[in-house]
Amino acid sequence: MWLHMDDLALIEMARNAAQQAHCPYSRFRVGAALLTDDGRVFTGCNVENAAYSLTLCAERTALCSAIAAGCRQFVTIAILASHTATPCGACRQVLAEFVPPEFRVLVASLERPADYQVFIMADLLPHQFVLQNNGTGSNA
Ligand code: THU
Repeated sequence: MWLHMDDLALIEMARNAAQQAHCPYSRFRVGAALLTDDGRVFTGCNVENAAYSLTLCAERTALCSAIAAGCRQFVTIAILASHTATPCGACRQVLAEFVPPEFRVLVASLERPADYQVFIMADLLPHQFVLQNNGTGSNA
């Protein structure tokens, strides 16, 4: 049952996603698998560009796929990379817009997927930026 998908199954999906990484510049592969509260999984990989700053991280490509499919509730993300890496600051801020403080972040290397670490969002990004006047039209 997808709702009870275990960590290792999600990690395996992230590992498969990393195979699609477009990373000719860094040679650093990243795959992400994002689990929704209704058991769906959206995957992503890093997509680099010759204009380096246009590069998209795996976490954000996974999140954008989920958002485009209408999903808004997330419980866990698995991130597998050439070596174990936590999400970059930009990805933390973008994820934080949509996930609760207890959202789980699993990280591991592609070579040793079972040797994974678990973080929660509240620890990865305390004091996230929130736009207080969002939607009010006020700039006071
Ligand atoms: N990268 C990710 O996909 N996620 C992160 O959280 C950090 C970095 C990618 C971007 C780039 O393609 C490569 O890793 C090296 O920075």
